[in-house]
Amino acid sequence: MPTREDVLQALRKVEDPDRGKDIVRLDMVKNLSIEDGQVRFTLVLKEPGTPFAEQAEEACTRVLHEEIDRSLDVDVEMDSEMISLGDDIGVSGGGGGEEEKHEAPLSGVQNTIAVASGKGGVGKSTVAANLAVALAEEGYDVGLVDTDIYGPSIPRMFGKEGHKPRVNSERQIIPIEAHGVKILSMGFMVDPEKAVIWRGPMVSNAVKQFLGDVAWGELEYLILDLPPGTGDIQLTIVQTIPLTGAIIVSTPQPVALSDARKGVAMFEKVDVPTVGMVENMAYFTPPDLPDRKYDLFGRGGAQELAAELDVPFLGEVPIEQKVRETSDDGFPIVRADPESRSARAFHTIAERTVEQVAIRNAEHDPTQKTEILYR
Ligand SMILES: Nc1ncnc2c1ncn2[C@@H]1O[C@H](COP(=O)(O)OP(=O)(O)O)[C@@H](O)[C@H]1O
Ligand SMILES: [Mg+2]
Repeated sequence: MPTREDVLQALRKVEDPDRGKDIVRLDMVKNLSIEDGQVRFTLVLKEPGTPFAEQAEEACTRVLHEEIDRSLDVDVEMDSEMISLGDDIGVSGGGGGEEEKHEAPLSGVQNTIAVASGKGGVGKSTVAANLAVALAEEGYDVGLVDTDIYGPSIPRMFGKEGHKPRVNSERQIIPIEAHGVKILSMGFMVDPEKAVIWRGPMVSNAVKQFLGDVAWGELEYLILDLPPGTGDIQLTIVQTIPLTGAIIVSTPQPVALSDARKGVAMFEKVDVPTVGMVENMAYFTPPDLPDRKYDLFGRGGAQELAAELDVPFLGEVPIEQKVRETSDDGFPIVRADPESRSARAFHTIAERTVEQVAIRNAEHDPTQKTEILYR
């Protein structure tokens, strides 16, 4: 039997000509199941009755036969979007209702991914930044928001320290563009030295307000860099916007791993699936000894934990001095040195993220995607 990855990979060859992208990227494949020798899914069209709608079912069956197996039993159910799901996801929390003046800020955002870690300093911001840039380089429309109010690091990593974003006529914050990504950071808005004395509820409120009123426009991926930890602040943030999934970053050390486990549990509690785990600082290769690999913090722990918790493993990133150097200079490594081991690792992680998000979106009923849990 083909895997879910095989099926979605094949279906990427079917493009919706009206929207200029493939049906997997557009999240049109839903309720995917592969059992008893049969591949079944629902194809959710934007509107029925178009020329594409007429031949989409046949096109899907054809690519599955060509790419996987001529004798594959394929059952496609056709459906169309009757209502726009995005209209309901107002995040200002104030009830909203009929007389909303502008569209809900996240209505154009297709997937929201939180990058989290139990422990600080494991490279969460580094992973979030490089994932965002790698996705943008692969042609996706990407936003990155830094919600780490005490230790915002995205402005520096993108060479935008001290910048102040502007506000549009609808009083929405306009994100700043850097390295092909729309970025926004609590660090643009609040002086971290003042924020350190804020108590939990103040931080939560600031983040809520901050996430609610941004002119993101159309995005395929919005990456959230969360503050380290799995406490109240993180919980509020993950409940402030509807999340598609979470990525947990860990180093191979036991302490970091036990915190990573807490991270997965936190997302489970609020029904956010973990789309994958990343092992950062996985090994060290001295530049003058390219065949050596030293396991400074141990090795493979995050991969083992991912297997144990039954979450996908997205990849391992080695320790490289230039990762830190270039990001201190405003260039994530994916941009600064695309051929380096870590940059290539980040591209692999980006590709697997796309794959896992597609699986998640194909398996869940569309109505569940925009579920919001307010506390
Ligand atoms: N793979 C890596 N190789 C070398 N340095 C790294 C790597 N990942 C992160 N760093 C460095 O480690 C420090 C902490 O990373 P950061 O992403 O800010 O962690 P976090 O957001 O989890 O606190 C930064 O100086 C960063 O440049
Ligand atoms: Mg950070």
